[in-house]
Amino acid sequence: MDNLISLVNKIQRACTALGDHGEASALPTLWDSLPAIAVVGGQSSGKSSVLESVVGKDFLPRGSGIVTRRPLVLQLHKSDEGTREYAEFLHLPRKRFTDFAAVRKEIQDETDRETGRTKQISSVPIHLSIFSPNVVNLTLVDLPGLTKVAVEGQPESIVQDIENMVRSYIEKPNCIILAISPANQDLATSDAIKISREVDPTGERTLGVLTKIDLMDKGTNAVDILEGKSYRLKFPWVGVVNRSQADINKNVDMIAARRREREYFASTPEYRHLAHRMGSEHLAKMLSKHLETVIKSRIPGIQSLISKTIVELETELSRLGRPIAADAGGKLYSIMEICRLFDQNFREHLDGVRSGGDKV
Ligand code: GDP
Ligand code: NA
Ligand code: MG
Repeated sequence: MDNLISLVNKIQRACTALGDHGEASALPTLWDSLPAIAVVGGQSSGKSSVLESVVGKDFLPRGSGIVTRRPLVLQLHKSDEGTREYAEFLHLPRKRFTDFAAVRKEIQDETDRETGRTKQISSVPIHLSIFSPNVVNLTLVDLPGLTKVAVEGQPESIVQDIENMVRSYIEKPNCIILAISPANQDLATSDAIKISREVDPTGERTLGVLTKIDLMDKGTNAVDILEGKSYRLKFPWVGVVNRSQADINKNVDMIAARRREREYFASTPEYRHLAHRMGSEHLAKMLSKHLETVIKSRIPGIQSLISKTIVELETELSRLGRPIAADAGGKLYSIMEICRLFDQNFREHLDGVRSGGDKV
């Protein structure tokens, strides 16, 4: 199955690279049918923190106020054990980042390049790939937080602009919504629940994540929410404890943070019975499993799209002719190869299913 998710990742990357140049009309449709996971919620609810812990790496700008000001499309690629991990931006194709603090800085700089050093936002996404033996194959999208009012330096329209941007990602049926609500605020006021319910009323593709459990008022706890008694979603809620601002300032690392998170759930009497399905590591596993299920259910649809795309790409290629647009032609050619591989992989899978095996 890992191979299948990895192929999905490759196609998404190829689609993105090509889509940016607007060369092939068939690709947006293909892209839309592939699953991705988007993180939504109010400003400072802990979206970037959750994303980082799912990835298991420190690389995102986090903090109070509006920090994430452009969508970040993040693709995780599992590489062979023992290989060195690195990151690569689509806008800096030949540069390999092995220092993740530099990745964070580049996200900030690239945000500023598009928006100026202001509190403005932009819907133009930043594309980042991480290659590592320690990740699962996933595509994740970090989004600016939903707000209620414009602050100094922001246009009045910003509240609506952010909402529209978020909606444009999560309304797609292929989007799995990671809905982030902070436990120290009333769930009835959760922006994440409000907008995800709007686009996914039955909760079929919404995973509820409760952050900041450690910051709840003394004498209160999140048991009712985590047990699904306050607001029912199709999938069980996952509670997490991310690093606090003080931890970030002190550079508490991911491994220490995860250990502390595990200890928190295991040693707090109210949560002990839920500990096995709490925390960031559990969330990452659940996401990967869910993605598998979604891909499996979409195989026939994606397969017919791929066949259609191959035909369209062949037509496009013959129209372009190699010598005229070598670059565009080369890109089309490589995406066609990926599509073929994908197609073949599906066929093998389907053969496996027919002969009674469960290979995927
Ligand atoms: P975003 O704006 O939704 O992306 O939120 P961030 O991930 O940037 O987090 C906002 C602030 O809340 C940061 O200062 C984090 O350290 C803090 N924070 C996020 N999650 C938790 C949590 O579970 N517990 C505590 N104590 N602080 C958290
Ligand atoms: Na923030
Ligand atoms: Mg953020």
